[in-house]
Amino acid sequence: MDDARERVGRLAIYPGTFDPLTNGHVSLIRRGCQIFDNVVVAVAADTPKTPLFSLDERVRMAEEVFAGHPAITVEPFTGLLVDYVERRGANVILRGLRAVSDFEYEFQLALMNRKLKRHIQTVFLMTDYQWLYISSTIIKAAASLGGDIKGLVPENIYRKLREKYGYPYPLGDDIDLGIGGIGGTGAAGSAFGAGLGNGGFLPRGGTSAEGNGCLGPDDEGYGGGTPPMAPTF
Ligand code: COA
Repeated sequence: MDDARERVGRLAIYPGTFDPLTNGHVSLIRRGCQIFDNVVVAVAADTPKTPLFSLDERVRMAEEVFAGHPAITVEPFTGLLVDYVERRGANVILRGLRAVSDFEYEFQLALMNRKLKRHIQTVFLMTDYQWLYISSTIIKAAASLGGDIKGLVPENIYRKLREKYGYPYPLGDDIDLGIGGIGGTGAAGSAFGAGLGNGGFLPRGGTSAEGNGCLGPDDEGYGGGTPPMAPTF
């Protein structure tokens, strides 16, 4: 295999509407980084959904989450996904599967993309069990009525959702700076770091992963114990 082909093989495009990005997506991206050298979080302008957040907002929120993680890039894209993947010089689309209910839609999407460009492969990773039942829609539904969705989305997105629906961003005890807790010290200066103390993506007391600038090895960061912010349902 020549060098260029090897490089292409190490880049995965993780597309979605990300309205908004959830901790389930973050978990998937982290695990994608264990397989690929670089993951591009590709935020779709053309989506069958009617997003709550504008394309700019969706991109900006995700960028904040992954700031300080050079292996992860966030980009908007317009038009067909397969064309974008090709333009990006990649041949892998990364998608997550939560439950059997996802399968039919994902199967359709993957087969259509394969029909459009045969050389582009879709790779599926299973969502971690903690995030099996969450989706952007259900999180928005709860947040819109003032439900506490802390721990299901990164902290900056939690704040944005509270603002969007006109609820105060919690102060006092609810503030989690992401230090000293299970998340340990997140990536310096990144919202991802702040989110980690809450979402628990770093190893207990650890720092973000070295190496390819990706995320820590221990996804949920609870080291076999009780998950810090596991969904309570
Ligand atoms: N954990 C938790 N939830 C997850 C998850 C995970 N690991 N992975 C996906 N989800 C949820 C999301 O929250 C989202 O929930 P929602 O339906 O309530 O919004 C849902 O599963 C999937 O959304 P998302 O991951 O944002 O992707 P999508 O299905 O909205 O993305 C595109 C669809 C963008 C890939 C598709 O519309 C596209 O390719 N558009 C470009 C135009 C194009 O090429 N069209 C032809 C396609 S054949």
